[in-house]
Amino acid sequence: AAPRLLAFAGSLRSGSYNRRLIPVLVEGARAAGAQVTHIELRDYSLPIYDGDIEAEGLPDNARRLQALMAEHDGLLISTPEYNGSMPALVKNTLDWISRPLGDGRSGTSLFTDKVAGIVSASPGPLGGMRSLLVLRDALAKLGLIVVPQQVAVGQAGEKLLDYGQLGDERAREAVHRVGAAVVRHLHVYNPSIAGARA
Ligand code: FNR
Repeated sequence: AAPRLLAFAGSLRSGSYNRRLIPVLVEGARAAGAQVTHIELRDYSLPIYDGDIEAEGLPDNARRLQALMAEHDGLLISTPEYNGSMPALVKNTLDWISRPLGDGRSGTSLFTDKVAGIVSASPGPLGGMRSLLVLRDALAKLGLIVVPQQVAVGQAGEKLLDYGQLGDERAREAVHRVGAAVVRHLHVYNPSIAGARA
C-alpha cells in the first residue's frame, strides 16, 4: 500500500506563506509515492482546548481530525513561528487529536510510530527555524518519528509569491526532500507499508 499522509499548514489567513508552502511539501511526498490528504485547518476549527467542553462530548471537528489521523500513516506540516514557538493553532490541533477516542484508547495512540515531515516559512531571515525545534519536540512526545530533514524558508514575502510557488530552487528541492524522506522512513518503520513493498 502507498503511504498515506495528512498535510496541513498551521495558519488560517488567506495570504499565509505556510499555506503557500505546504503544496510544495505535498508535491515532494507525492512524487515519492505517497497518497496525500491536504486539509485546511479552517475547515476543522476548534475552540482552545477546554475540559468543560470536552466533558460535554468531544467537538465534531476533533472527532473528524482523529478519524483522519487514524486513516493516515504520517503528517506533513508547514508551520509559522510565533514568538519563537509554534502557533497555538498547531498545538491546539494536536492537543484535541490526542484526547481519548471513546473506546478506551488514548488519542495519542493515533500518532504512535507514525512519521512526520515539517517545514516553516516566515518573512524573517531565520524562516521560523525555532518553531521547527518546538514542533519537532512536540511531535516526538506524541510518539511520531520526525524525519531529520527540515526546511525553514526565510524572506517568505519574496520567495512565496503564490500558492505552491516557491521561487527559490534550492529551497524547493530541499522541501521536496523532506516529503521524500517521510515516505522513505515509512517504508522502513511501518510494518504494513514495508510488508506491502516486500
Ligand atoms: C509573528 N511572526 C514571527 N516571525 C518569526 O520569524 N519569528 C517569530 O518569533 C514571530 N513571532 C510572531 C508572533 C505573532 C503573534 C505573529 C502574529 C507573528 C511573524 C510571522 O512569521 C508572520 O506573521 C507570518 O506571515 C505568519 O505565517 P503565515 O500566516 O504567513 O503562514
